[in-house]
Amino acid sequence: MVARITFEEQNFINNVKHVIQDNDVMAVVKNDAYHFGLEFAVESFMKAGIRTFSTTSLYEAVRIRKIDPHVNIFLMNPSIEFEKLKQYDIAMTLPSLKFYHEHLESLSGIKLHLEFENLLHRSGLKDQYEMIQVLEHNASLSKDNQSLIEGIWTHFGYADEFDGNEYETERDAWKKCLMHILNEGYTFEFIHSQNSASYVREDRLLDQHTHARLGIILYGSRPYSTLPTTVTKQNFSVTANVIQVRPIKKGETCGYSFQFTAEKDCNIAVVDIGYGDGILKTRANHDALINQKRYPIRGLMMSHMFIEVDESVQSGDTVTMYSDKIRIDEFTFKGVGANSEQISALNHHSLIKEIIS
Ligand SMILES: Cc1ncc(COP(=O)(O)O)c(C=O)c1O
Repeated sequence: MVARITFEEQNFINNVKHVIQDNDVMAVVKNDAYHFGLEFAVESFMKAGIRTFSTTSLYEAVRIRKIDPHVNIFLMNPSIEFEKLKQYDIAMTLPSLKFYHEHLESLSGIKLHLEFENLLHRSGLKDQYEMIQVLEHNASLSKDNQSLIEGIWTHFGYADEFDGNEYETERDAWKKCLMHILNEGYTFEFIHSQNSASYVREDRLLDQHTHARLGIILYGSRPYSTLPTTVTKQNFSVTANVIQVRPIKKGETCGYSFQFTAEKDCNIAVVDIGYGDGILKTRANHDALINQKRYPIRGLMMSHMFIEVDESVQSGDTVTMYSDKIRIDEFTFKGVGANSEQISALNHHSLIKEIIS
C-alpha cells in the first residue's frame, strides 16, 4: 500500500478538446507542465490538436522541440543563448527596448514576439510607440540583419480579479496598443494575451487574436470560483490508504505536540500520506474522501495523516485527497493555495505515479 498520483490520459485529452473547442490555443507548459510532466502534457495536448506551446525556461523549450520537430514554441522569458534559440527554432519574447538595442546584432534571424508591459510591470515594451520604434528600426536593417518579428503579446495580471476594474483597464490598454500597431499595417502570425480566466470571461478569443495562451483550465481546474465545474474537468487523483483505525478516548491527544485533542470518544484512521508527499498544511484543515463520504483531517505529519472516521472505515480503505469528486479548485476557493500551488507541491518522487491510458 503506497499513496499514488494517477493521471487519466484519454479523459485528460477529451477535456482539453472540450475546453479549446475550435479555438487556436498556445498551451502553457512551464514548470514541467504545471507539474503534470512536460512530455505527458505536450503529447496529450498534441493529441487534442494543439500545435503551439509556451514556457519560461529554455531548457523546457528545447525538450519540447525534441518531442516534435514542427510545433511552434514560444519562450516567455528572454534568453541570450541566441544560437540555441536558432538551432531549436524557438521564438522568444522581446522584454524591453533596452534588450533590443543591447543585443541588436545577435537578434538577427531570431523569432520575436513584442511584449506589452501593461499593469503587471513584469516585462515588456512600455507602449505602442516603443513597439513602432522596434518595428521601424528592424525594417530599416538589411534582410540578413533583421529579427523575425512574428508575434505580439501581453499578459493580464488581473483576469481572475472581480473586485475592481483593473482587468478591464489592462485589457483596454492592450486593445488600444494592438489596434494602433495593426492600423499601422503590421501583421503578426501570433497575437495572444488571454490566460484561462480571460478566455472564459471573454467567452473565448478577443478580436484580432490568433491564440489564447492557456494554462490551468487545460489542466482541469477553474480559474475563478463562480464558474460551473463543467467548464473543465479534473483528470487526476491523489489517493492514499488507511493503515489502521485506532480508538481515541475523549481528552486524549494524537499527533506531534498535541496536534489533535479528542472532544469525544472517536476513531482515528492513520493514513499513509503526508506533507512529504506534497499535501499542504492548509489542505489538512479540510476533508478527505473515504468510501464516497467526507471525513475531517485531524493531523498532518511528514508521511502520515490522521482522519476522524466512523465505524464504517476499515484498514485498507482508499483515502482520496484529490479527484474529480474532491477537486483541487474546491480547495483553492477555500483559501488552501492557488490551483498551481497545490499541484506543484505534490511529490512525484514519493508518490507512485501512474498514467492510465
Ligand atoms: C505569461 C503567462 N501566460 C499565461 C499563463 C497561463 O495562466 P493560467 O494558468 O491562469 O491560464 C501564465 C501563468 O502563470 C503566464 O505566466
